[in-house]
Amino acid sequence: MVFTALLKLSFIAPLVAAIPNQAVFTPEETELSVGGEIDTWALNPTGDAAIIRVARLEDSSKYDLHLLAINAQYTIPSVNYGPTDPHALYTFVSDNEFTTLVPSHEDEDVWNLFTQKLEYTTLPPAKPPTASEPKLLKRIELPIHGRFEDIIYASHTDTLVAVIKTGTPEYQTSGLFLSPLGNRSVNVIEDQRVNEQVSAQSGIVFRDLVTNGTHLVFTAASQSSDSSPEQSDLWILDLNNRDRPMGVFRWQAGVSFRAPAFGVGGTLAWLTEDKKNGRVQSWIYDGKTDYPVKLKNFGLSPEKTIWAKNGEALYLLTTDADKAQKSLYHLFTPSSGSPPVEPIRIPSNGTIDSAIHIGVTPLDHAHLIGVKEDARKGEGKELWVISHSPHEDPTYNYENIRLTHFTD
Ligand SMILES: *[C@@H]1O[C@H](CO)[C@@H](O)[C@H](O)[C@H]1NC(C)=O
Ligand SMILES: *[C@@H]1O[C@H](CO)[C@@H](O)[C@H](O)[C@H]1NC(C)=O
Ligand SMILES: *[C@@H]1O[C@H](CO)[C@@H](O)[C@H](O)[C@H]1NC(C)=O
Repeated sequence: MVFTALLKLSFIAPLVAAIPNQAVFTPEETELSVGGEIDTWALNPTGDAAIIRVARLEDSSKYDLHLLAINAQYTIPSVNYGPTDPHALYTFVSDNEFTTLVPSHEDEDVWNLFTQKLEYTTLPPAKPPTASEPKLLKRIELPIHGRFEDIIYASHTDTLVAVIKTGTPEYQTSGLFLSPLGNRSVNVIEDQRVNEQVSAQSGIVFRDLVTNGTHLVFTAASQSSDSSPEQSDLWILDLNNRDRPMGVFRWQAGVSFRAPAFGVGGTLAWLTEDKKNGRVQSWIYDGKTDYPVKLKNFGLSPEKTIWAKNGEALYLLTTDADKAQKSLYHLFTPSSGSPPVEPIRIPSNGTIDSAIHIGVTPLDHAHLIGVKEDARKGEGKELWVISHSPHEDPTYNYENIRLTHFTD
Protein backbone atom coordinates (compact mmCIF):
# COMPACT_ATOMS: atom_id res chain seq x y z
CA MET A 1 0.00 0.00 0.00
CA VAL A 2 1.31 3.39 -0.94
CA PHE A 3 0.31 6.46 1.03
CA THR A 4 0.66 9.72 -0.79
CA ALA A 5 0.33 13.16 0.69
CA LEU A 6 -2.32 14.63 -1.53
CA LEU A 7 -4.80 16.96 -0.03
CA LYS A 8 -6.23 18.50 3.03
CA LEU A 9 -9.71 19.37 4.06
CA SER A 10 -10.60 22.98 4.08
CA PHE A 11 -12.84 24.79 6.46
CA ILE A 12 -15.75 26.39 4.69
CA ALA A 13 -18.55 27.81 6.80
CA PRO A 14 -20.49 27.19 9.97
CA LEU A 15 -24.07 26.11 9.57
CA VAL A 16 -27.21 27.85 10.54
CA ALA A 17 -29.38 25.58 12.60
CA ALA A 18 -32.90 25.93 13.86
CA ILE A 19 -34.04 23.23 16.18
CA PRO A 20 -37.72 23.16 17.04
CA ASN A 21 -39.07 21.16 19.94
CA GLN A 22 -39.46 17.50 19.32
CA ALA A 23 -42.99 16.15 19.33
CA VAL A 24 -43.88 12.50 19.25
CA PHE A 25 -45.66 11.61 16.08
CA THR A 26 -48.76 9.51 16.59
CA PRO A 27 -50.25 8.41 13.32
CA GLU A 28 -54.04 8.85 13.25
CA GLU A 29 -54.32 5.47 11.71
CA THR A 30 -51.49 3.05 11.07
CA GLU A 31 -51.34 2.38 7.39
CA LEU A 32 -49.85 -1.00 6.58
CA SER A 33 -47.91 -1.55 3.36
CA VAL A 34 -49.56 -1.18 0.02
CA GLY A 35 -48.20 -2.04 -3.42
CA GLY A 36 -45.03 -0.51 -4.77
CA GLU A 37 -41.39 -1.14 -5.47
CA ILE A 38 -38.38 -0.69 -3.21
CA ASP A 39 -36.32 2.27 -4.39
CA THR A 40 -33.78 2.55 -1.59
CA TRP A 41 -33.39 1.35 1.98
CA ALA A 42 -31.26 1.71 5.09
CA LEU A 43 -30.63 -0.86 7.80
CA ASN A 44 -29.87 -0.09 11.45
CA PRO A 45 -26.49 -1.24 12.86
CA THR A 46 -27.89 -4.36 14.56
CA GLY A 47 -29.85 -5.33 11.47
CA ASP A 48 -33.24 -5.65 13.15
CA ALA A 49 -34.95 -2.56 11.72
CA ALA A 50 -34.99 -0.83 8.36
CA ILE A 51 -36.46 2.19 6.64
CA ILE A 52 -37.49 1.66 3.04
CA ARG A 53 -38.43 4.16 0.34
CA VAL A 54 -41.06 2.64 -1.92
CA ALA A 55 -42.26 3.96 -5.29
CA ARG A 56 -46.03 3.72 -5.34
CA LEU A 57 -47.50 1.18 -7.70
CA GLU A 58 -50.32 3.43 -8.93
CA ASP A 59 -48.00 6.45 -9.42
CA SER A 60 -44.29 5.68 -9.52
CA SER A 61 -43.40 9.40 -9.22
CA LYS A 62 -44.71 9.29 -5.63
CA TYR A 63 -42.75 7.73 -2.84
CA ASP A 64 -43.55 6.57 0.67
CA LEU A 65 -41.30 5.82 3.59
CA HIS A 66 -41.95 2.46 5.21
CA LEU A 67 -40.75 1.33 8.61
CA LEU A 68 -39.81 -2.29 9.18
CA ALA A 69 -38.93 -4.31 12.28
CA ILE A 70 -37.03 -7.46 11.33
CA ASN A 71 -37.46 -10.90 12.83
CA ALA A 72 -36.79 -13.75 10.40
CA GLN A 73 -38.78 -16.23 12.52
CA TYR A 74 -41.75 -13.98 12.99
CA THR A 75 -42.53 -11.64 10.13
CA ILE A 76 -43.83 -8.24 11.20
CA PRO A 77 -45.58 -6.26 8.43
CA SER A 78 -43.95 -2.99 7.44
CA VAL A 79 -45.76 0.27 8.14
CA ASN A 80 -46.28 3.13 5.72
CA TYR A 81 -45.03 6.24 7.56
CA GLY A 82 -46.11 8.56 4.76
CA PRO A 83 -44.89 10.43 1.67
CA THR A 84 -41.17 11.08 1.27
CA ASP A 85 -38.99 13.01 -1.18
CA PRO A 86 -37.44 10.97 -4.04
CA HIS A 87 -34.11 12.82 -3.46
CA ALA A 88 -34.04 12.29 0.31
CA LEU A 89 -31.06 10.36 1.67
CA TYR A 90 -31.31 8.23 4.81
CA THR A 91 -28.86 6.78 7.28
CA PHE A 92 -29.17 5.31 10.75
CA VAL A 93 -27.07 6.92 13.48
CA SER A 94 -28.02 4.26 16.06
CA ASP A 95 -30.40 1.32 16.20
CA ASN A 96 -33.37 3.57 16.92
CA GLU A 97 -32.46 6.90 15.38
CA PHE A 98 -32.15 7.78 11.73
CA THR A 99 -31.38 10.98 9.83
CA THR A 100 -32.81 12.21 6.55
CA LEU A 101 -31.10 14.74 4.30
CA VAL A 102 -33.70 16.33 2.08
CA PRO A 103 -33.74 19.31 -0.32
CA SER A 104 -35.65 22.29 1.03
CA HIS A 105 -38.57 23.57 -1.00
CA GLU A 106 -37.46 27.20 -0.93
CA ASP A 107 -33.90 27.03 -2.22
CA GLU A 108 -32.38 24.22 -4.26
CA ASP A 109 -28.97 24.76 -2.69
CA VAL A 110 -30.29 24.41 0.86
CA TRP A 111 -30.89 20.98 2.32
CA ASN A 112 -32.44 20.09 5.65
CA LEU A 113 -31.04 17.44 7.93
CA PHE A 114 -33.70 15.81 10.10
CA THR A 115 -33.42 13.24 12.82
CA GLN A 116 -36.13 10.82 13.92
CA LYS A 117 -36.47 8.20 16.62
CA LEU A 118 -37.66 4.79 15.57
CA GLU A 119 -39.75 2.84 18.08
CA TYR A 120 -39.85 -0.85 17.31
CA THR A 121 -39.79 -4.27 18.83
CA THR A 122 -39.07 -7.60 17.19
CA LEU A 123 -40.48 -9.76 19.95
CA PRO A 124 -43.88 -11.34 19.46
CA PRO A 125 -46.56 -10.12 19.67
CA ALA A 126 -44.76 -7.26 17.92
CA LYS A 127 -46.59 -4.03 17.30
CA PRO A 128 -45.86 -2.14 14.07
CA PRO A 129 -42.91 0.30 14.33
CA THR A 130 -43.49 4.03 14.71
CA ALA A 131 -41.24 7.04 14.10
CA SER A 132 -41.19 10.34 15.95
CA GLU A 133 -41.89 13.56 14.10
CA PRO A 134 -38.81 14.76 12.15
CA LYS A 135 -36.68 17.16 14.18
CA LEU A 136 -34.60 19.65 12.18
CA LEU A 137 -30.93 19.28 13.10
CA LYS A 138 -29.35 21.54 10.50
CA ARG A 139 -29.97 23.57 7.42
CA ILE A 140 -27.08 22.92 5.10
CA GLU A 141 -26.22 25.41 2.43
CA LEU A 142 -24.39 23.59 -0.34
CA PRO A 143 -20.88 25.02 -0.63
CA ILE A 144 -20.91 24.12 -4.31
CA HIS A 145 -23.95 24.07 -6.58
CA GLY A 146 -25.29 20.58 -6.99
CA ARG A 147 -27.09 17.98 -4.95
CA PHE A 148 -26.37 15.45 -2.27
CA GLU A 149 -26.44 11.93 -3.55
CA ASP A 150 -25.03 9.57 -0.94
CA ILE A 151 -24.69 9.75 2.86
CA ILE A 152 -23.17 7.61 5.57
CA TYR A 153 -22.64 8.12 9.28
CA ALA A 154 -19.30 7.45 11.02
CA SER A 155 -20.42 6.61 14.55
CA HIS A 156 -17.09 6.81 16.45
CA THR A 157 -16.53 10.36 15.25
CA ASP A 158 -20.19 11.51 15.08
CA THR A 159 -19.62 12.57 11.49
CA LEU A 160 -22.05 12.60 8.63
CA VAL A 161 -20.31 12.16 5.29
CA ALA A 162 -22.02 12.95 2.01
CA VAL A 163 -21.20 13.24 -1.66
CA ILE A 164 -22.29 16.37 -3.48
CA LYS A 165 -22.88 15.71 -7.14
CA THR A 166 -22.25 18.65 -9.39
CA GLY A 167 -21.14 19.52 -12.93
CA THR A 168 -23.02 18.73 -16.13
CA PRO A 169 -23.97 15.36 -17.63
CA GLU A 170 -20.93 15.72 -19.93
CA TYR A 171 -18.58 16.85 -17.20
CA GLN A 172 -19.47 15.25 -13.92
CA THR A 173 -17.66 16.12 -10.78
CA SER A 174 -18.37 15.93 -7.09
CA GLY A 175 -17.43 17.11 -3.65
CA LEU A 176 -17.10 15.22 -0.42
CA PHE A 177 -18.95 16.78 2.48
CA LEU A 178 -18.19 16.10 6.15
CA SER A 179 -20.29 17.44 8.97
CA PRO A 180 -20.40 16.65 12.66
CA LEU A 181 -23.95 15.82 13.67
CA GLY A 182 -23.74 18.21 16.61
CA ASN A 183 -24.05 21.93 15.95
CA ARG A 184 -20.45 22.53 15.09
CA SER A 185 -18.46 23.62 12.07
CA VAL A 186 -18.53 22.03 8.66
CA ASN A 187 -15.64 20.85 6.55
CA VAL A 188 -15.71 20.37 2.85
CA ILE A 189 -13.26 18.80 0.49
CA GLU A 190 -13.44 20.87 -2.60
CA ASP A 191 -13.48 18.83 -5.76
CA GLN A 192 -10.93 21.03 -7.52
CA ARG A 193 -8.27 20.26 -4.97
CA VAL A 194 -8.60 16.51 -5.53
CA ASN A 195 -8.99 17.16 -9.22
CA GLU A 196 -5.66 18.94 -9.41
CA GLN A 197 -3.91 16.18 -7.58
CA VAL A 198 -5.40 13.11 -9.20
CA SER A 199 -6.22 14.14 -12.68
CA ALA A 200 -5.32 17.33 -14.47
CA GLN A 201 -7.93 17.44 -17.17
CA SER A 202 -11.10 15.92 -15.89
CA GLY A 203 -13.61 15.90 -13.07
CA ILE A 204 -13.56 13.64 -10.05
CA VAL A 205 -16.57 11.59 -9.01
CA PHE A 206 -16.69 10.20 -5.49
CA ARG A 207 -18.46 6.90 -5.05
CA ASP A 208 -18.71 3.89 -2.77
CA LEU A 209 -18.48 5.66 0.60
CA VAL A 210 -17.88 3.24 3.48
CA THR A 211 -16.82 3.77 7.06
CA ASN A 212 -15.81 1.69 10.06
CA GLY A 213 -16.65 4.53 12.42
CA THR A 214 -13.22 6.16 12.53
CA HIS A 215 -12.06 5.96 8.93
CA LEU A 216 -13.68 6.78 5.64
CA VAL A 217 -12.94 4.87 2.46
CA PHE A 218 -14.22 5.82 -0.97
CA THR A 219 -13.32 5.70 -4.62
CA ALA A 220 -12.50 8.79 -6.65
CA ALA A 221 -13.04 8.34 -10.37
CA SER A 222 -11.77 10.64 -13.03
CA GLN A 223 -14.32 11.00 -15.78
CA SER A 224 -11.97 11.30 -18.66
CA SER A 225 -12.61 11.95 -22.32
CA ASP A 226 -14.28 9.26 -24.44
CA SER A 227 -10.94 8.02 -25.74
CA SER A 228 -9.54 6.73 -22.45
CA PRO A 229 -11.46 4.65 -19.91
CA GLU A 230 -12.49 5.95 -16.51
CA GLN A 231 -9.87 5.56 -13.84
CA SER A 232 -10.72 5.23 -10.21
CA ASP A 233 -8.60 5.16 -7.07
CA LEU A 234 -9.25 4.07 -3.51
CA TRP A 235 -8.88 6.66 -0.77
CA ILE A 236 -8.72 6.39 2.99
CA LEU A 237 -9.25 9.25 5.42
CA ASP A 238 -8.81 9.17 9.19
CA LEU A 239 -11.80 11.17 10.43
CA ASN A 240 -10.03 11.91 13.73
CA ASN A 241 -7.08 13.49 11.94
CA ARG A 242 -8.65 15.32 9.07
CA ASP A 243 -5.82 17.78 8.75
CA ARG A 244 -3.50 14.93 8.00
CA PRO A 245 -3.20 13.99 4.33
CA MET A 246 -5.38 11.23 3.01
CA GLY A 247 -3.89 7.90 2.04
CA VAL A 248 -4.58 6.49 -1.36
CA PHE A 249 -4.30 2.80 -2.14
CA ARG A 250 -2.00 2.19 -5.03
CA TRP A 251 -3.14 3.50 -8.32
CA GLN A 252 -2.00 2.28 -11.61
CA ALA A 253 -2.80 3.24 -15.19
CA GLY A 254 -5.70 1.27 -16.61
CA VAL A 255 -6.83 -0.26 -13.30
CA SER A 256 -9.95 0.94 -11.52
CA PHE A 257 -10.81 0.37 -7.88
CA ARG A 258 -14.36 -0.20 -6.76
CA ALA A 259 -16.72 -1.49 -4.10
CA PRO A 260 -14.59 -1.15 -0.97
CA ALA A 261 -15.98 -2.85 2.15
CA PHE A 262 -14.86 -2.61 5.77
CA GLY A 263 -14.46 -5.87 7.65
CA VAL A 264 -13.69 -6.28 11.34
CA GLY A 265 -11.54 -3.45 12.74
CA GLY A 266 -9.38 -2.03 10.03
CA THR A 267 -9.62 -4.82 7.44
CA LEU A 268 -10.83 -3.92 3.98
CA ALA A 269 -11.82 -5.70 0.81
CA TRP A 270 -12.29 -4.22 -2.63
CA LEU A 271 -12.29 -5.07 -6.31
CA THR A 272 -10.08 -3.90 -9.11
CA GLU A 273 -10.95 -4.00 -12.77
CA ASP A 274 -8.35 -4.08 -15.46
CA LYS A 275 -9.76 -1.79 -18.13
CA LYS A 276 -7.82 -3.53 -20.90
CA ASN A 277 -9.29 -7.01 -20.48
CA GLY A 278 -12.20 -6.37 -18.09
CA ARG A 279 -10.72 -8.76 -15.53
CA VAL A 280 -12.02 -8.25 -12.00
CA GLN A 281 -9.80 -9.07 -9.04
CA SER A 282 -10.79 -9.21 -5.39
CA TRP A 283 -8.37 -7.82 -2.77
CA ILE A 284 -7.97 -7.80 0.99
CA TYR A 285 -6.13 -5.35 3.22
CA ASP A 286 -5.58 -7.00 6.61
CA GLY A 287 -4.45 -3.85 8.41
CA LYS A 288 -0.81 -4.41 7.48
CA THR A 289 -0.64 -5.48 3.90
CA ASP A 290 -2.89 -5.85 0.84
CA TYR A 291 -3.03 -9.03 -1.21
CA PRO A 292 -5.13 -10.50 -4.05
CA VAL A 293 -7.76 -13.11 -3.16
CA LYS A 294 -6.76 -16.16 -5.16
CA LEU A 295 -9.80 -17.95 -6.52
CA LYS A 296 -10.13 -21.23 -8.38
CA ASN A 297 -12.90 -22.55 -10.66
CA PHE A 298 -14.41 -19.08 -10.79
CA GLY A 299 -14.52 -17.24 -14.10
CA LEU A 300 -17.19 -14.71 -13.08
CA SER A 301 -16.76 -10.98 -12.42
CA PRO A 302 -17.95 -9.98 -8.95
CA GLU A 303 -19.60 -6.57 -8.50
CA LYS A 304 -19.32 -6.23 -4.79
CA THR A 305 -17.65 -7.78 -1.76
CA ILE A 306 -19.62 -8.28 1.44
CA TRP A 307 -17.92 -9.22 4.69
CA ALA A 308 -19.42 -11.62 7.20
CA LYS A 309 -19.88 -9.59 10.38
CA ASN A 310 -17.24 -11.66 12.22
CA GLY A 311 -14.80 -11.29 9.31
CA GLU A 312 -14.50 -15.06 8.82
CA ALA A 313 -16.10 -15.14 5.39
CA LEU A 314 -16.54 -13.01 2.29
CA TYR A 315 -19.38 -13.01 -0.21
CA LEU A 316 -18.97 -11.96 -3.81
CA LEU A 317 -22.16 -10.51 -5.29
CA THR A 318 -21.92 -11.79 -8.84
CA THR A 319 -23.97 -12.27 -11.98
CA ASP A 320 -24.30 -16.02 -12.57
CA ALA A 321 -22.75 -17.72 -15.60
CA ASP A 322 -26.14 -17.92 -17.38
CA LYS A 323 -26.56 -14.15 -16.74
CA ALA A 324 -30.12 -14.79 -15.61
CA GLN A 325 -29.65 -13.64 -12.04
CA LYS A 326 -27.26 -12.32 -9.42
CA SER A 327 -26.20 -14.43 -6.46
CA LEU A 328 -23.89 -14.49 -3.47
CA TYR A 329 -20.75 -16.63 -3.67
CA HIS A 330 -19.25 -17.52 -0.32
CA LEU A 331 -15.60 -18.08 0.60
CA PHE A 332 -13.82 -18.28 3.93
CA THR A 333 -11.50 -15.30 4.28
CA PRO A 334 -8.08 -16.32 2.99
CA SER A 335 -4.82 -15.00 4.45
CA SER A 336 -2.09 -13.66 2.22
CA GLY A 337 -0.37 -17.02 1.81
CA SER A 338 -3.53 -19.16 1.41
CA PRO A 339 -3.88 -21.46 -1.61
CA PRO A 340 -6.65 -20.56 -4.12
CA VAL A 341 -10.20 -21.07 -2.83
CA GLU A 342 -13.39 -21.89 -4.71
CA PRO A 343 -16.34 -19.57 -4.01
CA ILE A 344 -19.56 -21.51 -3.34
CA ARG A 345 -22.90 -20.14 -4.53
CA ILE A 346 -25.45 -19.65 -1.75
CA PRO A 347 -28.76 -20.96 -3.14
CA SER A 348 -31.32 -18.24 -3.86
CA ASN A 349 -33.96 -17.58 -6.48
CA GLY A 350 -33.87 -14.36 -8.48
CA THR A 351 -31.47 -11.45 -8.49
CA ILE A 352 -29.90 -10.07 -5.35
CA ASP A 353 -29.39 -6.30 -5.69
CA SER A 354 -27.76 -5.59 -2.35
CA ALA A 355 -27.01 -7.47 0.86
CA ILE A 356 -25.64 -6.79 4.33
CA HIS A 357 -24.37 -9.52 6.64
CA ILE A 358 -25.92 -9.15 10.05
CA GLY A 359 -24.28 -12.04 11.85
CA VAL A 360 -24.80 -15.61 12.98
CA THR A 361 -28.02 -16.24 14.93
CA PRO A 362 -28.22 -18.25 18.18
CA LEU A 363 -29.75 -21.01 16.00
CA ASP A 364 -26.46 -21.14 14.05
CA HIS A 365 -27.59 -19.52 10.81
CA ALA A 366 -25.53 -16.89 8.98
CA HIS A 367 -27.98 -14.12 8.04
CA LEU A 368 -27.77 -11.57 5.26
CA ILE A 369 -30.48 -9.01 4.64
CA GLY A 370 -30.88 -7.60 1.19
CA VAL A 371 -33.06 -6.62 -1.73
CA LYS A 372 -33.91 -9.45 -4.09
CA GLU A 373 -36.26 -9.67 -7.05
CA ASP A 374 -37.54 -12.62 -9.04
CA ALA A 375 -39.31 -11.73 -12.27
CA ARG A 376 -40.01 -15.39 -13.01
CA LYS A 377 -42.16 -15.54 -9.92
CA GLY A 378 -43.67 -12.09 -10.50
CA GLU A 379 -41.84 -10.70 -7.48
CA GLY A 380 -40.43 -7.19 -7.63
CA LYS A 381 -37.77 -5.81 -5.31
CA GLU A 382 -38.43 -7.03 -1.77
CA LEU A 383 -36.38 -7.27 1.38
CA TRP A 384 -35.30 -10.82 2.18
CA VAL A 385 -33.19 -12.70 4.65
CA ILE A 386 -30.73 -15.02 2.91
CA SER A 387 -29.65 -17.55 5.49
CA HIS A 388 -27.29 -20.52 5.49
CA SER A 389 -24.92 -22.53 7.67
CA PRO A 390 -21.80 -20.58 8.71
CA HIS A 391 -19.81 -23.84 8.80
CA GLU A 392 -17.92 -25.96 6.30
CA ASP A 393 -20.73 -26.32 3.74
CA PRO A 394 -22.30 -22.86 3.31
CA THR A 395 -25.15 -24.30 1.21
CA TYR A 396 -26.32 -26.44 4.13
CA ASN A 397 -29.55 -25.28 5.78
CA TYR A 398 -30.00 -22.43 3.32
CA GLU A 399 -33.23 -20.50 3.37
CA ASN A 400 -34.71 -17.37 1.74
CA ILE A 401 -37.15 -15.62 4.05
CA ARG A 402 -39.25 -12.80 2.65
CA LEU A 403 -39.67 -9.76 4.87
CA THR A 404 -41.75 -7.34 2.79
CA HIS A 405 -44.76 -7.61 0.50
CA PHE A 406 -44.83 -4.59 -1.77
CA THR A 407 -45.38 -6.71 -4.90
CA ASP A 408 -47.09 -10.03 -5.27
C1 LIG B 1 -25.19 26.65 16.08
O1 LIG B 1 -23.93 27.24 15.83
C2 LIG B 1 -24.00 28.54 15.27
C3 LIG B 1 -22.59 29.00 14.95
O2 LIG B 1 -21.72 28.73 16.01
C4 LIG B 1 -24.74 29.49 16.22
O3 LIG B 1 -24.84 30.76 15.66
C5 LIG B 1 -26.14 28.95 16.47
O4 LIG B 1 -26.81 29.76 17.41
C6 LIG B 1 -26.06 27.52 16.98
N1 LIG B 1 -27.42 26.99 17.07
C7 LIG B 1 -27.86 26.33 18.15
C8 LIG B 1 -29.28 25.89 18.08
O5 LIG B 1 -27.16 26.10 19.09
C1 LIG C 1 -10.90 1.48 10.86
O1 LIG C 1 -9.98 1.19 9.83
C2 LIG C 1 -8.71 1.82 9.98
C3 LIG C 1 -7.90 1.58 8.72
O2 LIG C 1 -7.76 0.25 8.39
C4 LIG C 1 -8.06 1.32 11.25
O3 LIG C 1 -6.79 1.93 11.43
C5 LIG C 1 -8.98 1.65 12.44
O4 LIG C 1 -8.46 1.14 13.63
C6 LIG C 1 -10.36 1.07 12.20
N1 LIG C 1 -11.29 1.56 13.24
C7 LIG C 1 -12.04 0.75 13.97
C8 LIG C 1 -12.98 1.41 14.94
O5 LIG C 1 -12.02 -0.46 13.87
C1 LIG D 1 -36.23 -21.66 -5.58
O1 LIG D 1 -37.44 -21.96 -6.22
C2 LIG D 1 -37.76 -23.35 -6.24
C3 LIG D 1 -39.00 -23.53 -7.06
O2 LIG D 1 -40.04 -22.68 -6.63
C4 LIG D 1 -37.89 -23.88 -4.82
O3 LIG D 1 -38.15 -25.27 -4.83
C5 LIG D 1 -36.59 -23.62 -4.06
O4 LIG D 1 -36.74 -23.99 -2.73
C6 LIG D 1 -36.25 -22.14 -4.14
N1 LIG D 1 -34.95 -21.94 -3.53
C7 LIG D 1 -34.73 -21.03 -2.58
C8 LIG D 1 -33.35 -20.90 -2.09
O5 LIG D 1 -35.62 -20.31 -2.16
